[in-house]
Amino acid sequence: MTEPHRPLSVVTGASSGIGLELARAFAKHGFDLVVAADGNDIHRVAAELNAEAVQADLSTPDGVHELHAQIRHRHVTVLALNAGVTARSDDLNRELELVDLNCRSLVHLARLLTAEMAAAGRGRVLITASIVEAFPGPHQAAYNASKAFARSFGISLRHELREHGVSVTVLEPGPTDTPIFAKADQDTTLLATGMPKDSPTDVAQQAFEALMAGRETVVAASITSKATQLVSRILPGAVTARVTGLLTKPR
Ligand SMILES: NC(=O)c1ccc[n+]([C@@H]2O[C@H](COP(=O)([O-])OP(=O)(O)OC[C@H]3O[C@@H](n4cnc5c(N)ncnc54)[C@H](OP(=O)(O)O)[C@@H]3O)[C@@H](O)[C@H]2O)c1
Repeated sequence: MTEPHRPLSVVTGASSGIGLELARAFAKHGFDLVVAADGNDIHRVAAELNAEAVQADLSTPDGVHELHAQIRHRHVTVLALNAGVTARSDDLNRELELVDLNCRSLVHLARLLTAEMAAAGRGRVLITASIVEAFPGPHQAAYNASKAFARSFGISLRHELREHGVSVTVLEPGPTDTPIFAKADQDTTLLATGMPKDSPTDVAQQAFEALMAGRETVVAASITSKATQLVSRILPGAVTARVTGLLTKPR
């Protein structure tokens, strides 16, 4: 049972990686928690953090409604829309699931849940994009495009909700040590095997601080990730696409 004096945070994609570390950060800072993911592991996470679990496929409208039903009429102080997948360009079914989760469900959940925050006149939202929003992604084309979508949508949402007392922060992690590449059969690429990775704990910590400070965007966590995002925004797409293609080509 939620104690009324404790703020409530909702984290999607909380069963592993960045979402799990975000959930741990909220728990450490005294939030009650609702954690959501598709697989069974979410129950283990809920037990660890004394949280409520919602096991739902958020790539479907039914899954979105299931999560919404669980939290409607409760004031959500912080909403972290973090669930996401990547996909190889040669796997059409997975690419379409990616669009459903990383784009469609992001809009659906954000619209449903922020309407209630705006009505209450307060709240904070974190949207997990990626530094790949800054460059094209041959061999994972839909993924990079989805993260450009998430960043643009998040910043627009921030401006729409500002006058209603709701702050939106876009998180842009660099390559981070999580199971995301293996889940999409991308664990043999140079990106997965040959590049240093940031710690999901560091990413979550920087995200938490930026969210609570009400910042528009945060690129996390290492200097290398921050520099990559910065330089990629300046270089022409033809150059960044060529370099990225070498790193993401299946081997
Ligand atoms: N790792 C990186 O290098 C990196 C870099 C930049 C941005 N990101 C972004 O960070 C976010 C978290 O990714 P991660 O790296 O931490 O990977 P991860 O460990 O694989 O976490 C992804 C989370 O999303 C959940 N999820 C996947 N499909 C779902 C669905 N259909 N319905 C509900 N939940 C679903 C997963 O739960 P189940 O497995 O139980 O479904 C898991 O909890 C993603 O948006 C990703 O794009 C990651």
